[in-house]
Amino acid sequence: MINIAVLGYGVVGSGVVEVVKKNEMSISKKAGEKIAVKRILDIRDFPDSPDAELITKNPDEIFNDDSISIIVETIGGIGAAYEFTKRAFQKGKHVVTSNKELVATYGPELLKLAKDSGVNYLFEASVGGGIPIIRPLSECLAANEISSIIGILNGTTNYILTQMKKEGRDFASALKSAQQNGYAEADPTADIEGHDTCRKIAILSSIAYNEFVDYKNIHTEGITKITKEDMQYAEVMGSVIKLIAVSRKVNDKIFARVSPAIISKFHPLANVEDVFNAILVSGNAIGDVMFYGRGAGKLPTASAVVADVIDIVKHTGNGRRNVWEKKDYNNVIDISESETRYFVRAATENGKEVKNHILSIFGNVEFIKLERPEFEDEIAFVTMKSTEKDLSAKVSRLKEADTINGIKNIIRVEGE
Ligand code: HSE
Repeated sequence: MINIAVLGYGVVGSGVVEVVKKNEMSISKKAGEKIAVKRILDIRDFPDSPDAELITKNPDEIFNDDSISIIVETIGGIGAAYEFTKRAFQKGKHVVTSNKELVATYGPELLKLAKDSGVNYLFEASVGGGIPIIRPLSECLAANEISSIIGILNGTTNYILTQMKKEGRDFASALKSAQQNGYAEADPTADIEGHDTCRKIAILSSIAYNEFVDYKNIHTEGITKITKEDMQYAEVMGSVIKLIAVSRKVNDKIFARVSPAIISKFHPLANVEDVFNAILVSGNAIGDVMFYGRGAGKLPTASAVVADVIDIVKHTGNGRRNVWEKKDYNNVIDISESETRYFVRAATENGKEVKNHILSIFGNVEFIKLERPEFEDEIAFVTMKSTEKDLSAKVSRLKEADTINGIKNIIRVEGE
């Protein structure tokens, strides 16, 4: 019998307890041992919970109990979760988590601590919810040199963008719908500002390129400035707008970025809608491989946590022990050096004159025209590939023109 303890009885934590109970028979067959939740730690009271008798507010009841060998940390954040994770390793207990913030922030230290303590630190559920991606990337694709990862890693924002595209909603109304459906948090900042996606691409990149990629060095933009008018432009371009996380190995450095991007309808990520996530990985032996599924939610995420628990039970004493090398320099390429094409929308009252001005500043561009009265006073175009530094210099020149009444939006165009 393997006893586990769950720290944090929130959405994912209670889901873990539910999955362990619900699939008790099949889990013990797969693990080769019976697995039971012996204790749950939470500072809140849950008098009506079916698990009430397991819940304690005293961490000592868990950490001093030698019969508990695996800790599931679903507290979230980098405060108590960090302290408890270290304490678990010091006590020789394995830790499984869904906590992307903790892994992205303290991954190198915690992985090393786990290794030195002869235990495992697994976090399949930290990226992509129920989608298997951490283990495939670190084990199944281990023979490849990974050259790039591109993905939709946040269900809430993908739902919002899908609503804006399909229902013609504006951002605020689509966000409200996400909240009403229980997808977005009451405070949805981490989702809509791209922070959640940023931590996830940092974790995937650290695994793929075998060195720690610090999320603080990744340029991150959210979706709050995307309008339903931008969506209409994307439509006539035969494209869609998605919140895209991308990372690439460029010589001995890593390029990584999180931002909204216009992608062709033929791109493998274009039809990933609602709360679904997808991750496209390119390796030098396998070529392209794509992972798709529910990237959030109680039971999908809990299923990934419990799979890690089963993995530990099956491989006790035989560690899944990766370490992330932490470079003593910034290994992420500065965003100003990165190259892409850009969709630019500017307000103007003089279409003809401004076109020549745009061509003189940007060189060859592709103008995009929407033949509707509400778009009469603006001009939109897609640039050739250029660096961010170059683009911002050109946009500054454009803003100075008398014929331009302001820049409405600039969105990156992903792909060739
Ligand atoms: N808020 C996240 C999402 C949950 O919407 O994808 C999973 O990390």
